Amino acid sequence: MKGIILAGGKGTRLFPMTKIISKQLLPIYDKPLIYYPLSVLLLANIRDILIISTPQDIGNYRNLLGDGSKIGVQFTYAVQNEPRGLADAFILGADFIGDDSVCLVLGDNVFYGQYFTPIIEHAKKQAETYGAAIFGYPVKNPKDFGVVEFDENNHVISIEEKPQNPKSNYAVPGLYFYNNDVVEIAKNVKPSARGEIEITAINNEYLKRKQLQVTLMGRGMAWLDTGTPEGMLKAAEFVEAVQDRQGFYVSCIEEIAWRRGFITREQLREIGQSLKMTDYGQYLIALSEEKI
Ligand code: G1P
Repeated sequence: MKGIILAGGKGTRLFPMTKIISKQLLPIYDKPLIYYPLSVLLLANIRDILIISTPQDIGNYRNLLGDGSKIGVQFTYAVQNEPRGLADAFILGADFIGDDSVCLVLGDNVFYGQYFTPIIEHAKKQAETYGAAIFGYPVKNPKDFGVVEFDENNHVISIEEKPQNPKSNYAVPGLYFYNNDVVEIAKNVKPSARGEIEITAINNEYLKRKQLQVTLMGRGMAWLDTGTPEGMLKAAEFVEAVQDRQGFYVSCIEEIAWRRGFITREQLREIGQSLKMTDYGQYLIALSEEKI
């Protein structure tokens, strides 16, 4: 399975912070926002990853992440000239995807939870077996998201994008697993009222084909919003609280790469050494010496 991180957009809700820098490069506590969704792909054992951003920002992502060899993965970069909608990721990424299945994660979505890895491993298998796997997550403000509608037997009957009258409080997080049909489906999506080719249209097409699996995430999972200054601050406080309490870092890409066997202990130590003036670097060094 291939992975795509969509890190485009104008970030207007975060102006002036994002006037000259992409939102997904801003920090959430001690690491750039994009590390969090990138961790999701690494946890799903996805090592071939396309990063999509704007013409202005793509160079910054390249500078930050390079070709991926440092953490044992491969990054490819693509430019999205205009924010045309999330479904555009599969059109821009068509050659990259080839005839593989694909996981899309939005560059501003933060996930954290004890059983998260088995959940995404399962979703990966579901997409490869049935067609598509997405999630539902209870929120207080469903109007701001794609929303799942259920019938009386709890079967999913539709997904609505930012509905005025949400039919449930289950929002669809920005993490989607699809088989290869997604490329063809995306090419046939018509722009919505807001002029975007919506991911929700893709999910509804899979639903129509009876190939959509929706897994509900429960209270033990954190899916955090980083779309506003307040959301960013709360996410940062959450990460700080967990890290400070447990001593384990949240979404540390080098740690995941090492635990997943993408890099050796020696490589982990070297990265730690290069950052040794920071707590982050010291954490990597301690991990490599099995002190944590
Ligand atoms: C997008 C999707 C929406 C989804 C959300 C998750 O919204 O269109 O269905 O629930 O991401 O973050 P946007 O960020 O484009 O407003």
